[in-house]
Amino acid sequence: MLVSAKEMLDKAKAGHYAVGQFNINNLEWTKAVLLTAQECNSPVILGVSEGAGKYMTGFKTVAAMVKAMDEELGITVPVALHLDHGTYEGSKKCIEAGFTSIMFDGSHYAIDENVEKTTELVKLAHDNGISIEAEVGSIGGEEDGVVGMGECADSDECKRVADLGVDMLAAGIGNIHGVYPENWAGLQFDVLDAIQQKTGAMPLVLHGGTGIPDDMIKKAIDLGVSKINVNTECQLSFAAATREYIEAGKDQQGKGFDPRKLLAPGTEAIKAKVKEKMELFGSVGKA
Ligand code: 13P
Repeated sequence: MLVSAKEMLDKAKAGHYAVGQFNINNLEWTKAVLLTAQECNSPVILGVSEGAGKYMTGFKTVAAMVKAMDEELGITVPVALHLDHGTYEGSKKCIEAGFTSIMFDGSHYAIDENVEKTTELVKLAHDNGISIEAEVGSIGGEEDGVVGMGECADSDECKRVADLGVDMLAAGIGNIHGVYPENWAGLQFDVLDAIQQKTGAMPLVLHGGTGIPDDMIKKAIDLGVSKINVNTECQLSFAAATREYIEAGKDQQGKGFDPRKLLAPGTEAIKAKVKEKMELFGSVGKA
């Protein structure tokens, strides 16, 4: 069931668990995440970066595929189709294309410009009945060409953006996209705590979910994180399972080269990873 992310995140915040956002790249990815959410009776957010949207030939294709797949598979759990790290233009395109949620990432603008653009997009999103995520303090690392230095968010700026009426807020707390370097300092819980104190009931978003130790994830949820984004870990699982299949020569046995067979181990690996994360985040059975 395609819905805005607002209700599922408000429930997660009140219930002290988090909803996973899993980024999708193609049909297999989408199917794997939808089927796992249904099996786990969990709400879920499908994340689409602008790069992945382009890869799938455009946001309209993505929206049509997700809507049809949701229906054809008979998915009854709440599913939000969400733009990840959207530009101002990309956000508008996704609203038109039929996404049910957007993230406008204005973190690289000065705070006044971030506030101005976010304000405009909050109105547009809400007029169209969809949810919107904003960002303060950039997430470190690189994702689809979007590079952030990983600065921690200022809690007063977070309050200012939360007060614009956004439905969820991403705030940098030392998290980065991709695999964490060995000398990573860890999540800055004092920063998260200060943000949570100032923003109250606002569901907070933790980007860069890949490789954050389980105890840190649990502590972050205790401190108000209600949405956790995972991308790289699914990619690594897919790649490892596909490599194993090919290295075992299975693509050369019988009809093992059939794309439906070739992509099956990777798809199963994504399912297992998504299930593991839903259990960790506490969203199983919360649909
Ligand atoms: P990872 O790729 O580090 O899991 O980050 C995902 C993310 O935050 C998407 O916005």
